[in-house]
Amino acid sequence: MSYNAPEGTADMLPADARLWRYTVDEAARLFARYGYEPIDTPMFEQTEVFCRGIGEATDVVGKEMFVVRSGENFRRECAGENVKSKSKLSLRPEGTAGVVRAVVQHNLVEQGAAPAKLFYAGPMFRAERPQKGRLRQFHQIGAECLGAAEPSADAEMIIMLMRFFESMGVPQSRMRLLINSMGDDNCRPAYRESIKQFILDHEDEMCEECCRRAQTNPLRAFDCKNEHCAIIMADAPKISDHLCDDCRDHYKAVKHYLDNAGIEYVEDPTLVRGLDYYTRTVFEIQVIEGMGSQSAIGGGGRYDKLVETVGGKPTPGLGFALGFERMVIALEAAGVLTENVKNVDGYIACVDDSVRDVAFDLACSMRDAGLCVEVDHQGRSLKSQFKVAGKLNVARVIVLGPEEVALGKARVRNMNTHDERLIDIETIKRLFAQFDGQRFGGTLSDEIDTVFSFENDDKE
Ligand code: HAM
Repeated sequence: MSYNAPEGTADMLPADARLWRYTVDEAARLFARYGYEPIDTPMFEQTEVFCRGIGEATDVVGKEMFVVRSGENFRRECAGENVKSKSKLSLRPEGTAGVVRAVVQHNLVEQGAAPAKLFYAGPMFRAERPQKGRLRQFHQIGAECLGAAEPSADAEMIIMLMRFFESMGVPQSRMRLLINSMGDDNCRPAYRESIKQFILDHEDEMCEECCRRAQTNPLRAFDCKNEHCAIIMADAPKISDHLCDDCRDHYKAVKHYLDNAGIEYVEDPTLVRGLDYYTRTVFEIQVIEGMGSQSAIGGGGRYDKLVETVGGKPTPGLGFALGFERMVIALEAAGVLTENVKNVDGYIACVDDSVRDVAFDLACSMRDAGLCVEVDHQGRSLKSQFKVAGKLNVARVIVLGPEEVALGKARVRNMNTHDERLIDIETIKRLFAQFDGQRFGGTLSDEIDTVFSFENDDKE
């Protein structure tokens, strides 16, 4: 009997895992310029955090959450016993609700202090129907800014996300930034009511799901995949015509900051997003080609009521999350991710077993000096060791043969030029020891060459 990873999940094999780590590091580097600090919250929360935060009427909470129970509580629930709400847990379908719960619990936004700027990276879980770009366990990198109500904060957030995608290599020409304002408690209720009425007026022509949504979450009808519903909703009232003065001014100011920063955007009055916490600005970045139907690589918006909803003091907030797997599809479609090769500095090849101790010792010294080195453990032929080195794309192969080792020397081959040098092993070790894990500057190959071209060497 053999097993596969569960439906809708994917193993991150080394090349993908390497890219994930690189992506997280790149986000940390770039977001730090904007004042963001890392935060890590649990992968599961009390279900109520998501119900209250994201909204019970959303698909994400209503249909897609993975419920978590201890074995004991599961047994009790099955037997019809009551389980305390504290023990009702769910895997996080997104990061915002948990981060905001943590911000409230630890009082991270002090009155009058600068906003709390936090970012996170990790797996999220949604029981969706799997397809290209839509997984049940996927990875997000997200950022949340709590305590800033001003429109410049919205623009800063959007710019940071765009800059991140650019730094990862997503071509600007393939990205489309959609923005909208969803209004606030002042103007949205009346708009929501007008959409509800619009759906009810077209009840005979719209799908069952949309008619049900008219009662629970009418704005979601804008996202209905049914072609006929989409045609009808194109004539529905637009939020842009229903914003109150404050929301209109806020939205105008966000666009002003984006214009000044040279960020292109498309205003989409039907952009409503799938989570209930949004107020005012919402945005989404779509990739134009090669994504199938899952073209959104990131999205977010403002949520000025969320902190109160999960039990905190009134605190404005906003954020975004990007989908790692979708970003990778976008990079592949744009031909940016052609190769993702492991970075190995050197390979130590043994001519025969007699030099194995020397090889092992040299590998230890080089690794202690901060170099990434592979050594043969399996007693392969010299030819197959060179093959492995070639596959690893190493810069230098150090060949240890009994005759050279007897003289205290090693043969070093530059894999690009095929130049070879005989070098004193003790010299190599002494020089690498001086590195002490510190880089000289320049590329690693330069550093290795600095060592390998030591003036006492005999060039062959
Ligand atoms: P979201 O739009 O639900 O927003 O997800 C953000 C991104 O996660 C999407 O644009 C997409 O790239 C990726 N994503 C979502 N679902 C899947 C899936 N099933 N498979 C693969 N990728 C997926 C949020 O999650 C909000 N928490 C963003 C936010 C933060 N808003 C304010 N702060």
